[in-house]
Amino acid sequence: CRCSRHLQEKSIPTIRVRAEAVKNIKNAAAETRKAMKTIVAKVDLRQASSAEVIQTAAKILQEGGLVAFPTETVYGLGGNGLDSAACEKIYLAKGRPSDNPLILHISEIEELDRIVAEVSPQAKALMDAFWPGPLTMIFKKKDIVPAKATGGLDTVAVRFPNHPVARAIIRAAGLPIAAPSANSSGKPSPTRASHVEYDLNGKIDMIVDGGAAEWGLESTIVDVSGTVPMILRPGAVTKEMMEQVIGPVEIDPAILHKPTADFKPKAPGMKYTHYSPKAEVFLVKGEQTAVAERINALAAAERAAGKKVGVMATEETKTLYHADIILSLGSRAKPEEIGANLFKTLRKFDFLGVDVVYSEVFSEKGEGMAIMNRLNKAAGYRVLEAE
Ligand code: TXA
Ligand code: MG
Repeated sequence: CRCSRHLQEKSIPTIRVRAEAVKNIKNAAAETRKAMKTIVAKVDLRQASSAEVIQTAAKILQEGGLVAFPTETVYGLGGNGLDSAACEKIYLAKGRPSDNPLILHISEIEELDRIVAEVSPQAKALMDAFWPGPLTMIFKKKDIVPAKATGGLDTVAVRFPNHPVARAIIRAAGLPIAAPSANSSGKPSPTRASHVEYDLNGKIDMIVDGGAAEWGLESTIVDVSGTVPMILRPGAVTKEMMEQVIGPVEIDPAILHKPTADFKPKAPGMKYTHYSPKAEVFLVKGEQTAVAERINALAAAERAAGKKVGVMATEETKTLYHADIILSLGSRAKPEEIGANLFKTLRKFDFLGVDVVYSEVFSEKGEGMAIMNRLNKAAGYRVLEAE
């Protein structure tokens, strides 16, 4: 019989089960949200009160929770790197693809032994020269490191940061701390606690605010698990700097160009081109006045079509442009300034509701390689030539 009463009767049990399941999920989500009040705590290690903040952060990490903290590159989202469940939480909070492995952070060289199977003489020399600092190294891993932390790889990325707050938290926790950049997956890495709050408030247990990250771009990654060390991500420690210590270093060729399905970067995370603000970003290359002319013409056309246009300029060029928002990255003579301001500026364009951003480009020499790598990713490798 298909009369409505019988149909209803028949379907009642399923409906009730479904309704209950929905209610349970809703309750659970509400509970989680209630429980997940993110603590935001400022820390200044010169003040005695900072000990309490560090201890709270360490306790949360030991209990399997998530704490964002500053490093000298960008803010990291930390969890116990030896605990699969904590690593899983990191992926969930960031919305990160599970094939993109995490970096384990240590606060003493001795801790390396616990997680890494072998250290080559070259790796040892790089550690002596650049740790603590903005250098991540890829080693063969030990079994204690869970597959969740390494995306199933048999290697593990390790970094010994130089930021005093990061070091104090890791030391107090007494654990290797898995910490990707503390942004929502796909967004520019956070260089301020406020950026972390914007992306992850309510999704993590604590944010330790230690001020602006000094370098502002993520660490250099070098793979020292093979015979010739290879740079998988450019950063503050440049190819030239490493070559002075250990001789020839290769660069993963796939990081210099737009990644494709059959030309994949060796660091899984480097294959994602969008790293970017909501606005569409275009890079404009060429001689300074030609770049300004081209950008102004493009901006005028977009504005006529009702778009809000931003220009990412420099101290030297910012007066050459006509657009809705013109932001300077700093002086061309100081690449470290450009690097430190890049992610903050991309986030600001989003905050201001800009639809299209045109950016100048920079030299790829030395630390410029890291700047151009991140700019190219933000722009999805769209480069326009100014005549
Ligand atoms: O400066 C930094 O490195 C920051 C701070 C917080 O330390 N962290 C950071 O982590 O940038 P994340 O997760 O955003 O980037 C880690 C990169 C990804 O591209 C990932 O694919 C790569 O490291 N990676 C991690 N383990 C790897 C492995 N075993 N082999 C190759 N690449 C690896
Ligand atoms: Mg990241």
